[in-house]
Formats: sequence, structure tokens, C-alpha cells
Amino acid sequence: MEGARARLFIGVLCCLVVLERAVGLEFTRSDFPSDFVFGSATSAYQERCQTTVLVMWLQTDITNIRYNGIIMLSYRYILEDVKLMADTGLEAYRLSISWSRLIPDGRGEVNPKGVEYYNGLIDDLVKHGIQIHVMIYQLDLPQVLEDEYQGWLSPKIIDDFTAYADVCFKEFGDRVKYWTTLDEPNIIGIGSYDSGLWPPQHCSNPFRVINCTIRNSTVEPYIAVHNLLLAHASVYNLYHTKYHELQGGIVGINVYSFGIYPFSDSNADKEAAQRYHDFSVGWIVNPLTYGDYPLIMKKIVGPRLPVFTKYQSEMLRGAFDFIGLNHYTSLYVMDDSHNTNLGPHDFYADTSTQSSISRNIMPSGQYIPDPSEIVPDPDGLEHMLEYLKATYDNPPLYVQENGLGMTTNSSLEDKKRIDFLSGFIGSTLTAIRNGANVRGYFVWSFIDVFEFLAGYDTTFGLYSVDFESKEKTRKPRLSAHWYSNFLKNNGSISTTGLSDEGYHAEQ
Ligand SMILES: *[C@@H]1O[C@H](CO)[C@@H](O)[C@H](O)[C@H]1NC(C)=O
Ligand SMILES: *[C@@H]1O[C@H](CO)[C@@H](O)[C@H](O)[C@H]1NC(C)=O
Ligand SMILES: *[C@@H]1O[C@H](CO)[C@@H](O)[C@H](O)[C@H]1NC(C)=O
Ligand SMILES: *[C@@H]1O[C@H](CO)[C@@H](O)[C@H](O)[C@H]1NC(C)=O
Repeated sequence: MEGARARLFIGVLCCLVVLERAVGLEFTRSDFPSDFVFGSATSAYQERCQTTVLVMWLQTDITNIRYNGIIMLSYRYILEDVKLMADTGLEAYRLSISWSRLIPDGRGEVNPKGVEYYNGLIDDLVKHGIQIHVMIYQLDLPQVLEDEYQGWLSPKIIDDFTAYADVCFKEFGDRVKYWTTLDEPNIIGIGSYDSGLWPPQHCSNPFRVINCTIRNSTVEPYIAVHNLLLAHASVYNLYHTKYHELQGGIVGINVYSFGIYPFSDSNADKEAAQRYHDFSVGWIVNPLTYGDYPLIMKKIVGPRLPVFTKYQSEMLRGAFDFIGLNHYTSLYVMDDSHNTNLGPHDFYADTSTQSSISRNIMPSGQYIPDPSEIVPDPDGLEHMLEYLKATYDNPPLYVQENGLGMTTNSSLEDKKRIDFLSGFIGSTLTAIRNGANVRGYFVWSFIDVFEFLAGYDTTFGLYSVDFESKEKTRKPRLSAHWYSNFLKNNGSISTTGLSDEGYHAEQ
């Protein structure tokens, strides 16, 4: 989705930042396995507009985001963008389907216009030979299900989500072979039900960072993720009993991940870093690999952590064909278990990791003048890919989002983004060479889109979009030319960055 959410996380959580990246690794497209795919991504709500918890949230004006319905306009541009993708040489495109566009009431009747819209888009992608990866749920819960039974807090959502996915498989599964059920369920738990910054904005004192209607930050994140996991497993089973044989596709789940470093060499900080792994990616991937939450979560969260029945545990175990990662940045994690606060604990307190150190001081003591300036750390992605390989029995992995946010009005000459992307693509290759089973890499985002927590002020696009213009003009940034050259011409990449030759932005 976007990196601003990483900043939200860091702001609440703790400790930034990052190391020097490795320099000098040079590679070409053909250094990657031939069935590896390079693509780019966007999502439904960030381009188009529905009645969902998101839109309600945007309209409540709790953020500084410029909204004004601008996102509704880009609906009609999507087909033109497919041509742009083909011209760029994208091998794959990741899109998300909007639940309420397809099923306006959350369950029941299917909207034929919604089906028609996605059929048109999917056919166009097929025509251009672009492999299609679909995210079934990217945060856009139909408002009606939030109103009726509080969305992900109720197990009722498992059947409704499965029925929605069934429509997706039935209508589009003849052409779509790569399905991801849920985008960042770990962040949904925290952002939507603990800090409350994300829709539907549940949180309770003293953890709230905004004025939520009172809910319960000590239990709701765990309940929501429990239902998200069961809904995922239900959809996975549906696909493999009803569709797989006919359609031959695969179904995975996505998690948000950080590169994780212990703040110091102390055992306490090393254990804190491990705890952080277990609470962030382990929360999702452990149940799907081993049928239960990580031991440390069960120990610390205790009776607030829902329990899987034996049947559920069996259903979860092995219920994925791949894990997708949204990965942008790295964290230093410091132990905070000596904090004997006896008050109620939310997710952050449960991790028993430090959240109060100055964000501007690196472990080395170096002062970082602008904490919002996140230093790219490609090594953090390599560590995460190799951590997942080692911890979860070498699962197939996709880097489903990676990219650099820059100020919207910055020039088209985004050399920093080229450095960023080449560094992370390089670290993906290193992880593959070290045995990680990585199958693809997607740049976030193909074009500038509406970004959570940043609106239109920070953008990630390979192509800029002039949101003020009537035509919403797209212009390639240097990074678009660069990615295109890498894909089409087997262009060589060095993590020290490319020479400028041949990469002048077209005006
Ligand atoms: C939070 O909302 C309540 C209920 O609407 C209101 O009484 C209170 O003043 C608000 N507090 C802040 C800090 O906005
Ligand atoms: C949250 O739920 C826990 C466990 O059920 C309970 O002990 C606590 O009082 C609740 N807190 C609020 C603010 O409702
Ligand atoms: C970008 O430029 C537009 C048009 O000049 C302006 O309205 C907008 O505020 C600028 N945004 C930022 C983040 O500087
Ligand atoms: C791509 O470039 C590399 C290194 O120059 C070369 O070994 C490889 O054969 C090239 N592959 C293709 C498909 O041209």
C-alpha cells in the first residue's frame, strides 16, 4: 500500500533506522530465475472510490489528507494505464478487487457493472501478456458489514468474505491465477483496532492516538486478526476444493514486514528483536505453518489471545501457497520487558519492546536530523526473506510491495528512487542466491495514487500523475525509464546507481 504507514508504525513503536547498503552488486534481468516475475502494483480504493469504511474515514477529516473526491476521477484512466504498463515492459501487475464494487451490500447480490469492469481490465491485461495478481481484500471493508456486526471483530465475516472470494474465483479465475486473500492483516490488527489511526478507527484509552469511540485496544487487535486468519483459511480451502483443479491457480496471504535489528548486542535486545518478529510476521505466518500462534505471544497475551480449536488449527496449517510481503523499511528494537507497568496492555505493550527512545539517535550515537527521512536499508529485506526461509520451512515468497515515497511535486528526476529500487532488487537476488524461494517482486506503485496518511502529498509512482489537471496527465519519471530498460533490454543494474545516460525524463 504505502510507506507512510511504516512511519505511523515507527512513530508509535520506536526506533528507526538503518544501515549502509551493500554496494557494487551488479546484475541483469536474466540473473533472476526465468519464472521469476517483475511487476508493479496499485489498489482499488487508492484509485477509485466506493462506499467502504475507507471512504467514511476519509470523510471524517481526522487527517490532513486532501481528499475532495479526486480519486474518483481516475476510474476511467485504468485501461489507458494497461497500455502504459505494456509499453514499460511490466511482466506482472498486482491489482486489488473492491468488495463493495462487486457486492454492494457486502453479501448477496452481485453488481453486474462491477463484474463487467473487472472483466474489461483483466481481458486487457491478458491481451497485453501481463501476468495478473489479484489482492482480494485491501482494507476496503463494505461499510454495511461494519455497521451490521463490526466487520472483522465478528466471526460472521468469515462466511461473507468466503462468499465474496467465491464470486471472484468464479468470475475471474479462468484468467487470474495468482490470488492473495488479505493485504497486511497484521497492520489491520494494529492500525484499525489498537492505535485506531486506520478505519474503522477502534481504540481505547490509554492507547488511542485519536479520539475513537471507545473500544478495546487490549483485545480487539487479537480478535480481528483471529478472524482474518480463519477467513483466509476458509478462502484457501474453498479454492483448493472447488476451483484449483479446473483453474490451476494459487492462493497466498500478505504480511507487512520490517527489517529487524536488535538495538544493541545485549541478549535482552536480541530477544526483543525475536519477540518483534513473532508479534509482527509470526502472528500471521506461524498459525499458517504450524497451526498456532507463536509461543511467546501465547505466553505474554495470555487469555486475551483467542484460541484455535483443534479443527481450526488443522484447517490453518499449510493453508497457503505463498507469502507476500509489503516491505519498505527497517527498525531497531530495544527490550522493554523490565517495564513493570501493571495497567492494561495493548499490542505494543505486549511486544515488550522499547517505544520511547529518541527516534533521531542511531545506535552508533549518530544524530539523524530529520527522522522522517527514512534511510533505505535493502539488507533488511534480504534478512527478512532469509528469516522466513529459515523459520517457516522455505515458503514461496513474493515481494508484493516495495518502493520509495517522495514529495509529490519533486521533479521527474527521481534518482533517489532508482537507487532505492536497485538496492532492494539486488537484496532480493542475494536472498535467492542464499536459497530463499522468492518468486516475484512488485514496485509500489506504478502510477502516483492516493496514499494513506499522506494523501497526495507523498507519492510512490514510477509515473507521475498531475492530479490538478483535467486529463490527470501521466509522465514517466526516470525510475520508469530505468525499470523499463532493466526489464526490456536486460539492462544491468548496480546498487551504486546507474549513470544518467539515456534516462532523461520525457516532458
Ligand atoms: C472526544 O470525543 C468526545 C465525544 O464526542 C468529546 O466529548 C471529547 O471532547 C473529545 N475529545 C477530544 C480531545 O477531542
Ligand atoms: C477490555 O477487555 C478486557 C478483557 O475482556 C477487560 O478486562 C477490559 O476491562 C476491557 N477494557 C475496556 C476499556 O473496555
Ligand atoms: C503541488 O503543487 C500544487 C499545484 O501547484 C499545489 O497546489 C500543491 O499544494 C503542491 N503540493 C505540495 C505537497 O507541495
Ligand atoms: C543479459 O545480460 C547478461 C549479462 O550481460 C548476459 O549474460 C545474458 O546472456 C543476457 N540475457 C539475455 C536474455 O540477453
